Amino acid sequence: MAISTPTDGGASLQGEAKARLVQRMFNRIVPGYDLMNRLMTAGMDLRWRRLAARLAQPFAAQVLDIATGTGDLALELWHQGAATVIAGDFAVHMLQVAQQKLPESIPLLLADAQNLPFADASFDCVTHAFLLRNLSDLDAGLREMRRVLRSGGRLVCLEITRPEPGIFAHLFNFYFYRFVPALGGAITGQRAAYHYLPHSLTTFPRPYQLAERLIQAGFSSVHYQLLGFGAVAIHIAIA
Ligand SMILES: C[S@@+](CC[C@H](N)C(=O)[O-])C[C@H]1O[C@@H](n2cnc3c(N)ncnc32)[C@H](O)[C@@H]1O
Repeated sequence: MAISTPTDGGASLQGEAKARLVQRMFNRIVPGYDLMNRLMTAGMDLRWRRLAARLAQPFAAQVLDIATGTGDLALELWHQGAATVIAGDFAVHMLQVAQQKLPESIPLLLADAQNLPFADASFDCVTHAFLLRNLSDLDAGLREMRRVLRSGGRLVCLEITRPEPGIFAHLFNFYFYRFVPALGGAITGQRAAYHYLPHSLTTFPRPYQLAERLIQAGFSSVHYQLLGFGAVAIHIAIA
């Protein structure tokens, strides 16, 4: 059994314990969440979501943005002409902030990415940003996303990833494991959550490994792009 330590913010928990910790944590960090995203990434996160939305090819499509959080990716998908965007998350306080940003035509849904309340083949696209590290069962989550996509539909996953070893990886590790928890603690008062954030990446699959897991989950082809000096990846998987 994994034992969570005070310094990993609970990232080593598994199963239901991890799911409940993640849900509680995101409900608590809502007030400073958007500000921290902008500060941590120097505003790049908005550009990454815009690109992820473009890669989803949302024009006239039925789209599910799961783990929508405060709704930034759902809003981008809507701006890019999706016929329908459903914005789902399992943290109700996140959805309350999303509701203030999103037009009324985007329905909000309290839903678990690992148990989606939709029939098979309901969507042309499923998207998510910064979800996968948080799942208690990554493979079950990927299979569930495949299930709700029609054949030929697209899954777009925007996620932080570990840069390849080298000078940038050293800088990234200092920034992500030392500076971000201190900044997050100071800005949001939720230091544990910003300890959890880097530690949730420590055992997360590398981009090529995630591509393999997507194939194992039933996708027929996968490719990915690295951004942010190799610290961010967008995977595009075809159902
Ligand atoms: C880092 S935030 C990302 C939010 C948003 N996508 C963004 O780009 O800012 C992760 C989100 O995933 C949600 N989440 C984590 N696990 C989930 C699950 N199993 N089902 C639904 N939402 C989940 C959290 O509640 C949180 O809102």
